[in-house]
Amino acid sequence: MPLYDKILILTGAGLSAESGLGTFREENGIWSKYNFEEVATPEGYAADPKRCLDFYNMRRDLHHKATPNTAHKALARLEAEYPGEVVIVTQNIDSLHEAAGSHRIIHMHGQIDRVKCNDCGTTYDYPYGTIEVNSICPSCNVQGQQRPDVVWFGEMPYDLDEIQKEIDSCFLFISIGTSGSVYPAAGFVNMARKAGAHTVELNLEPSDGAVQFHEAHQGKATEIVPRYVDKLMHEAAIAQKKVVR
Ligand code: OAD
Repeated sequence: MPLYDKILILTGAGLSAESGLGTFREENGIWSKYNFEEVATPEGYAADPKRCLDFYNMRRDLHHKATPNTAHKALARLEAEYPGEVVIVTQNIDSLHEAAGSHRIIHMHGQIDRVKCNDCGTTYDYPYGTIEVNSICPSCNVQGQQRPDVVWFGEMPYDLDEIQKEIDSCFLFISIGTSGSVYPAAGFVNMARKAGAHTVELNLEPSDGAVQFHEAHQGKATEIVPRYVDKLMHEAAIAQKKVVR
């Protein structure tokens, strides 16, 4: 296995669970309390924009209070210190990778701190306060069409072409804290395998697609991610010593 090529990391809600943001499909998860069809689909927004915005405003509040945990920080350290490239593709709409210090991040499901105009499609940073039902688009001035810049069920995730290129060129694919139940992200492990990458799952429990990975480790992200990052850095250090000799 070459050591200095690209590591691609897919992250999901389990990575931010210990930062207090909750997961979706576990017992007491977000989708056990809210009907996703009402709050996370274009149809749900069209039927009742206030209900949908209330849900995201509540989550924006939670996200603003959350801080990165040791797993986010370990991934930032990996990007800073690993002798090859490290790219994160996240399904999470929080900004905890950025807050931890990672730079190469693809937000395939959008970001809760950004707003999108449903009318003209303009997206913009909107990190504070609430999104009001009657707010006006700063670009087209249309009122009442502002929504969070997040990808809903039935919508196309962002940057799929770029993600495909990153998968095709990685030697190691690591999936962290995701149940593997939402496509296309759930299919990335197979794409990475086909591209010749070694595939690793780090999750609290075996995910729906666990058998597709070459290697799997179970535990809390705050414990197993720093440990796995230490292992990668250790292997890289040994390989570098061999190169120097
Ligand atoms: P899920 O809620 O489906 O899965 C979270 C996974 O994290 C589960 O497999 C848990 O076992 C695991 N987990 C929980 N706590 C953990 C911890 N402390 N450490 C490690 N793992 C832990 O969340 P996602 O897979 O991210 O999309 O969900 C994917 C998409 O479905 C989300 O982006 C969202 C959701 O509906 C949209 O809203 C469009």
